[in-house]
Amino acid sequence: MSDTLVSMKGLDFSYRTPDGSIRVLDQVDLNVERGEFTCILGRSGCGKSTLLRILAGFEQHSGGSLLIDGTPLTAPSMERIMIFQEFDQLLPWKSVRENLLFPLRKRFPDESAAQLHERSEQALALTGLSQAAGLYPRQLSGGMKQRAALARALALEPKLLLMDEPFASLDLKTRDSLQQLLLRLWRESAATMLFVTHDIQEAILLSDRLYIMDEREQGRLTCYENPLRRPRSHSMEGFKSFALRIARAFD
Ligand SMILES: Nc1ncnc2c1ncn2[C@@H]1O[C@H](COP(=O)(O)OP(=O)(O)O)[C@@H](O)[C@H]1O
Ligand SMILES: [Mg+2]
Repeated sequence: MSDTLVSMKGLDFSYRTPDGSIRVLDQVDLNVERGEFTCILGRSGCGKSTLLRILAGFEQHSGGSLLIDGTPLTAPSMERIMIFQEFDQLLPWKSVRENLLFPLRKRFPDESAAQLHERSEQALALTGLSQAAGLYPRQLSGGMKQRAALARALALEPKLLLMDEPFASLDLKTRDSLQQLLLRLWRESAATMLFVTHDIQEAILLSDRLYIMDEREQGRLTCYENPLRRPRSHSMEGFKSFALRIARAFD
């Protein structure tokens, strides 16, 4: 039985600029099923980040409907957390541990310091950052910063994790290990994942359902079910042929 967390129908969005308004999304439909891993694949400039910002509540759409858990989306919420590509999303003057504790206090205001500490230590352990808990962001590699951003996001127990090309600036090896980590964290949590990328292989490795965003059609999304069993690898049977099918649709 399907259980839809995000239901977007006929969504329109334009940016207002001094030279007039620019329509970026026109009549966009998207369904994200609860607990699933959904990827959006699209070229640079097609409107992926705009769509995620709308889902985070940072931008207002001008038309269509957008329901989260059956309720119209009106404002940002700690139930929808965003992770960005940039390595500078941690507070530079706080340690890794404090970067987790700071939003945790807001998210769980009734919990004791010991309970919050337990939450942060658990998230740090799950992401392999226990040893780095006392370090400051400037002392971390790019991969560790993204791990910390992931730890912080998941510690907040979001309903929906919105990821905007979080691994796009990492070297291949680090990216591989973070993809595996993300899949493990997803299996162990109740979070629903919406992950944006321009990398076909990454989308196939991660997703249950994959949407291709079309720039020429103002963000129109076409849905593909991922036929590959988990656990997946680039060399498994069927990976190449599915990648080829997606690449053809992507061109
Ligand atoms: N604040 C803004 N004002 C005006 N245009 C914008 C703004 N942000 C993005 N755009 C334009 O909207 C389009 C989609 O941008 P974006 O959502 O960032 O695409 P993507 O994430 O797929 O690369 C691009 O043409 C971009 O130039
Ligand atoms: Mg973007």
